[in-house]
Amino acid sequence: MTIQLDINGKTYAVASEPDTPLLWVLRDELHLTGTKYGCGIAACGACTVHVNGAPTRACQLPISALGGMKITTIEGLLGRHPIQAAWVRHDVPQCGYCQSGQIMSAVALVKDKPHPTDDDIDAAMAGNICRCGAYPRIRAAIKDALSAPAPVAAA
Ligand code: FES
Ligand code: FES
Repeated sequence: MTIQLDINGKTYAVASEPDTPLLWVLRDELHLTGTKYGCGIAACGACTVHVNGAPTRACQLPISALGGMKITTIEGLLGRHPIQAAWVRHDVPQCGYCQSGQIMSAVALVKDKPHPTDDDIDAAMAGNICRCGAYPRIRAAIKDALSAPAPVAAA
């Protein structure tokens, strides 16, 4: 038996057992390895994806719960989201391991609050742990993401 999953706008028929966490289906079956395994207990945020637009921990989410839901992973941003451009401008990552989860949480935040306050950022990002301590650059990039002028096109 297969389960149909809508991921990044494509429909996948996956063969994993229904109680398999989405994280392992993404990584091992579909080879979408941008989503990372950190703790496996929904405590670090490394595995954050969007489910119907909401940031969600993929490590504790069985695929049986995802029928009819729209899943977006870091690959689905195509490297083109303003948050990703701000991440580059602010040189946010250190080791990089937590970063796809950080970016997915930040993207969800600025969708709802394009100009978040420090409190908004603290609330939205509290569940994303960075053992490198990149928090000041993460905060600066989020604040800058939607306030920066659009790049000037080459002549
Ligand atoms: S791996 Fe899912 S929250 Fe840590
Ligand atoms: S950049 Fe290394 S854990 Fe966050």
